[in-house]
Amino acid sequence: MNKTVTVSVLLLSGLVAGAGPAVAGSRAGSRVAEQSAQAATNAMLAGSEESKIKRGFEISPVPLDLRGRNRALVGLGSYIVNAQGACNDCHTWPNFAPNGDPYLGQPKAINATHFLAGGRPFGPFRSRNLTPDPNSTATPEEHYAEFVNVMHTGWDPDQAHPQFGPLLQVMPWPVYQDMTDRDLRAIFEYLSAIPHADPFCKDENLSLPICQP
Ligand code: HEC
Repeated sequence: MNKTVTVSVLLLSGLVAGAGPAVAGSRAGSRVAEQSAQAATNAMLAGSEESKIKRGFEISPVPLDLRGRNRALVGLGSYIVNAQGACNDCHTWPNFAPNGDPYLGQPKAINATHFLAGGRPFGPFRSRNLTPDPNSTATPEEHYAEFVNVMHTGWDPDQAHPQFGPLLQVMPWPVYQDMTDRDLRAIFEYLSAIPHADPFCKDENLSLPICQP
């Protein structure tokens, strides 16, 4: 009995005495492993953002004005708007070009003529024109502040329907408000780079029943 205890104590102290360098060595090893895992993660993230930027440029249905803009943000913004955010679904109306309706089994062709120009009716509400306003006197930073406020709070800058209150309806701002600042900036950069367009009803035929308020 006594012998067993002594042997165990000896064994234990041997383990502890021997543990120092071994632990330090494995710590250094794990730090190296951690760093290389971090580097791999960073490379992967950069790669995934790069592929989003590339895809964003491939899928934008309209030509982009890149002068004076951050190219990466515009590409990323296109990816978010056209492949993730579904902004197009509500803000482009009609959604598809003639013979380009995937719901009818046709190859998808977005309606580039009215791309993001709004006007789609949702009961008493209509989606707004998101394309750049050539007559606006606000600075880009003022526009950006307003845009971020819309996306964060849903507060309607136009106060278009006070009878329903000050907040935008239908528009999924309660979802978008959790996006990162960078993603919101990217969306904004993309929306600034697309051409101005007028909504279908303004362009085509104001007397169509679907165009009546
Ligand atoms: C489900 C439909 C829907 C989707 C998806 C959608 N919107 Fe909207 N959005 C609307 C409607 C409808 C309004 C106007 C609501 C109202 O009048 O109360 C609006 C309003 C806005 C406004 C306010 C414009 C202004 O200044 O008057 C902005 C900005 C906006 N949307 C941006 C976006 C962006 C960016 C996306 C994609 C990330 C998006 N929306 C996706 C339906 C949608």
